[in-house]
Amino acid sequence: MKNYKLEEVLEKVADSFLGSLTGNNLEVVSHFDTDGITSAAIMTRALKRLDKKFSLRIVKSLNKEIIESLDKKKVVLFMDLASGSLKEIKKSGIKKVFIIDHHEIDSENIPENVEIINPELTKKEKISSAGLTYLFCKKIDERNKDSAKLAILGMVGDTLEKEIDRLNNSILDDGNILRKRGLLIYPSTRPLNRVLEFSSNPFIPGVTGNMEGVIDLLRESGIAPEKGKYKNLIDLTEEEMKNLVTSIVLKTPGKKDKDLIGDLFLVNFFGKLEDAREISAKINACSREGKPEIALGFCLENFNSKKKAESIHTKYRQELVLGIKRVNEQKKVVGKGYVIINTKDKVKDTMIGTISSILANSKTYENGTAIIGMSYDGQNKIKVSGRNVGKTGRNLREMLSNVMESFEGEVGGHHSAAGCMIGLEDEEEFIEKVKNQFELEVIKIANLSSN
Ligand code: C5P
Repeated sequence: MKNYKLEEVLEKVADSFLGSLTGNNLEVVSHFDTDGITSAAIMTRALKRLDKKFSLRIVKSLNKEIIESLDKKKVVLFMDLASGSLKEIKKSGIKKVFIIDHHEIDSENIPENVEIINPELTKKEKISSAGLTYLFCKKIDERNKDSAKLAILGMVGDTLEKEIDRLNNSILDDGNILRKRGLLIYPSTRPLNRVLEFSSNPFIPGVTGNMEGVIDLLRESGIAPEKGKYKNLIDLTEEEMKNLVTSIVLKTPGKKDKDLIGDLFLVNFFGKLEDAREISAKINACSREGKPEIALGFCLENFNSKKKAESIHTKYRQELVLGIKRVNEQKKVVGKGYVIINTKDKVKDTMIGTISSILANSKTYENGTAIIGMSYDGQNKIKVSGRNVGKTGRNLREMLSNVMESFEGEVGGHHSAAGCMIGLEDEEEFIEKVKNQFELEVIKIANLSSN
């Protein structure tokens, strides 16, 4: 496929997908994060437009049991997962499989009955699964352009917004998405005093959680309330934005202007201009709280789902704060280039990925450090989430795949963010094997430099 362009693959696979659909013969399986849910929402809308019946399953991760439980006679479409499960798919005997995904893939072992859209097989374009699903559905019917905003939510959910190129730009244009440079504190569509008070990324000493500190900071930045109300971030003048960034930089050691500034995306959602990061956080919260159907309804702009999504989000934020506190208090295994945080049953398995990401984005560990978070899933398994600090460091998918050769369990992901599930009985041995992997690397580097 290396010789094909993504555009050609999309066209070819869309034709084949349409040709394979008859009556009620489609099962869709998608991932439970924001990228997976928005992919499912885009596909749901497109299939409804085609008047095709299908069943949809949202899963935390793909495993042998799920693959085996699928109807072998049906066409199965996997979204935002399955690139790491080709062997199991081959063994399962499912007749026809389509995959739309952007995770790393073993391109040598693609079974004949599997058609894949994955930029890892073309030019490694940086695009979310929702972005791919969107482009795919647009090939099926130009009217699916009305899902462009969902593709942007998927991109923001997978923090791919820094990688915007021609492909993603075309989606932004299709969705009439407003893109603004500014302070990366969100939501940018709510009064500044409230947003600063709750800001955890960045955490602003003396301001986060401190209303008086917030008012002082705004005064220092020359921003005063108008008729008793502070402006929203997106409504600041250039001058006010610049002053605010300077004031925050002065209060957050280690942060520079460029760390705090980036692209904000404003999306018309439920008839209002909303910050894409806030919508994405709400989708993510519903799914992680075990309510993917509410996340999906919310994406499809169902009012009832919106109300429920908002109350779940509030609860989720409280749990996240508690989880971060517990991780901070937790005893850690610290070695050269890695930190293993085994939270056991102290942190929910659905939170450990997010908390590992927050930790990787904070200034707690050096660039290049791998953070390996672990949490019990309450059913004899342990969820493992690996995140690199910065862009350097080991390929975590490769590292976890090496470790998992010794255990039963699924593994997948990318260079800087990967995950796996292990059995509870393998806890200690798994930790030893991870340590060995990093120590092996130190020996390799030492050998290289002495040669
Ligand atoms: O689960 P976690 O958030 O730690 O996963 C990190 C990345 O690895 C995500 O992009 C996730 O989709 C991917 N992953 C995967 N297969 C797994 C576990 C994680 O593709 N079995």
